[in-house]
Amino acid sequence: MISGYVAGAIPDYQMSSFLMACYFRGMSEEETLTFTRLMLHSGDVIDLADIPGVKVDKHSTGGVGDKVSLILAPIVAACGVPVPMISGRGLGHTGGTLDKLESIPGFRTSLSVPEYKNVIRDIGLVMIGQTEEIAPADRKMYALRDVTATVECIPLIAGSIMSKKLAEGSDALVLDVKTGRGAFMQSYNCSVELARTLVRIGNTFGKETVAFITDMNQPLGTTIGNWLEVVESVECLKGTRGTNDGSSDLMEVTHALAGSMLVLGKKATTISEGVRLSKEVIADGSAYRKFLQLIVAQGGDASVTENLERYPLSKHSIEVRIDEDGHVGEIDPLEIGLTSITLGAGRARVDEAIDPKAGIVLKKKVGDKTEIGEVVAVFYTDRDEVVESARTRLAKAFRVGPSPPEKRSRILGLIDNAGMSEWTPL
Ligand code: URA
Repeated sequence: MISGYVAGAIPDYQMSSFLMACYFRGMSEEETLTFTRLMLHSGDVIDLADIPGVKVDKHSTGGVGDKVSLILAPIVAACGVPVPMISGRGLGHTGGTLDKLESIPGFRTSLSVPEYKNVIRDIGLVMIGQTEEIAPADRKMYALRDVTATVECIPLIAGSIMSKKLAEGSDALVLDVKTGRGAFMQSYNCSVELARTLVRIGNTFGKETVAFITDMNQPLGTTIGNWLEVVESVECLKGTRGTNDGSSDLMEVTHALAGSMLVLGKKATTISEGVRLSKEVIADGSAYRKFLQLIVAQGGDASVTENLERYPLSKHSIEVRIDEDGHVGEIDPLEIGLTSITLGAGRARVDEAIDPKAGIVLKKKVGDKTEIGEVVAVFYTDRDEVVESARTRLAKAFRVGPSPPEKRSRILGLIDNAGMSEWTPL
């Protein structure tokens, strides 16, 4: 059925029924493994054995404001571990790495297999999407799941993620399994089950796999929307943001995942040693230089990241204010993600184009003090008809209380072959 779908013999409406059946009935462990194997072999499986070093990749199950890959991949590559990465587009209310990269003028996320191999060989880093050759079943089914409300399903997520990751030629994998209101798995127990399933599949297929469980109960960092997220990533890579500000949580997750990737890539013996290396390549500028190399290698215009202010502006730039005093207790990430789609930052239909400029900048994060009339967010859109509803929705997404909630790490646990361990903030 999967090969028939890829070849065009099975139409979307029949595949939609299959996806809906999986959504309601789930799959057994054996079915999930078989499904993943068939998705993987719908295309080529790349062999990168001729590239020296342990190749390590990362994948997130999807969140709001989750631009970790844009910062993490250059960090790890700058530390000398090759990173071959196949990512996805925006899915449901979450953003996708490909759409973010494509907001950089000229950046090509669709490379042939020889081009893919040349880029990783030349600069130790490559970031592309599923193609007609690599994971083509996921390429088609991912887009269909996005618009048929069949994303939140453990075996479908597992098959989707692992077919890409097993096809790309990496030797080891770090997963970021999000949990909470802005994640596909809102309950902690379901997220743990998803993480265990992904780790089991990775190890069954001979790829050392580790999964972090991270909190997605507020957006990560301060930006939501493709170009806005590139800007935040560039600033974090340059080290001008990410310490004691709204991007600190983003860098906490990024450094922890980098630490783990550097352990798997044999450049560090402990995660904390890996975190130290990760911070060093931000401080000495080599992670940012690696990002610029990536843009050039994949056809992008690197001068835009040096002149961020030259990017075109949206027709509307609207401030959102709230009329309460106190501390921000919650910022509903689901509502923020859904509103960003109405602004043009995501898709409601398979064929819809993305507006790379559209999105939201948070001026307050959970725990921040706020006063009546203060600006808590600014949003950007070209669409006249959504301005009023977006303003109301975003104001409601902020909940204010008399005192700040307890400060918690965004990292909740770590799962590997040996089971689950607690995370001690570094
Ligand atoms: N990321 C993927 O690649 N696939 C999913 O199904 C969910 C998140």
